[in-house]
Amino acid sequence: MALKRVDYDDNQHAVYARGRSMAPATLARWMERFAAHLPDRRPLTVVDLGCGVGRLTPALAETFGGPVHGVEPSARMREIAVATAGHPGVDYRAGEAARIPLEDASVDAVLMFLSFHHVPDRAAAAAEIARVLRPGGRVLVRSPFADRMTAGWWQQFFPRALAIEKQMFPTLVEVTAVFAAAGLTPVALVTIEEVYAANEAEAAEKLRLRAISTFEHMSEAEIAEGFARLDAYLAAGAGDGPTAGLSDLLVLG
Ligand SMILES: C[S@@+](CC[C@H](N)C(=O)[O-])C[C@H]1O[C@@H](n2cnc3c(N)ncnc32)[C@H](O)[C@@H]1O
Repeated sequence: MALKRVDYDDNQHAVYARGRSMAPATLARWMERFAAHLPDRRPLTVVDLGCGVGRLTPALAETFGGPVHGVEPSARMREIAVATAGHPGVDYRAGEAARIPLEDASVDAVLMFLSFHHVPDRAAAAAEIARVLRPGGRVLVRSPFADRMTAGWWQQFFPRALAIEKQMFPTLVEVTAVFAAAGLTPVALVTIEEVYAANEAEAAEKLRLRAISTFEHMSEAEIAEGFARLDAYLAAGAGDGPTAGLSDLLVLG
């Protein structure tokens, strides 16, 4: 059965910024990774497509000079971005991947950070991204891919989570094919270790906010069972080390 579409105006907007906060060092690491695949000249015009609450958007302007256009379909996510993630080089606009409110050939890079899997019409999105990119421009797709995923730290408590995510996320082959049809081909596939929380207690606190769209596809009963498993695990002594996972970044151009 196909999964329902997750609308960030419903629940996720209220918890996303706290539940998915990114440590400055992790943010800096991502910026280095993006820079490694973009031209050295500055400024670069960047679209943060599906920018959410602007978790990465100001850092993109700091790194690349801007302008950086944060494009986001959820009005409530956008409102939070405007209120909390302002930057002189950033503007936030209503739009979505298949309807980018920008001119043809006007940007150097399009970042889709954990947003591509939410796009209903991926072929239209790839064509639209190709339309706004300047010649030589790059697409940065940070996404898990269904054919490369393994269970992360929190998924040990929620037995169905990995299977749900394999349905939520496209395979690398699917993403590559959809962009190839729009004339964009892979340039690099980079995997980095991303720290999600400084220790397990912090990871659990963030997890309780349910700021992960996977939870939207579970029943309240199975969520409660999962948190009971987590509580039992923590009662036995939470680990001091950071929780981390491997994150894929696909670069196309
Ligand atoms: C997991 S959040 C990621 C937000 C941000 N990129 C980040 O990493 O913090 C996914 C975002 O994709 C947005 N989204 C949903 N459908 C979209 C679409 N068709 N085009 C672009 N973004 C979309 C959601 O509203 C949500 O803000």
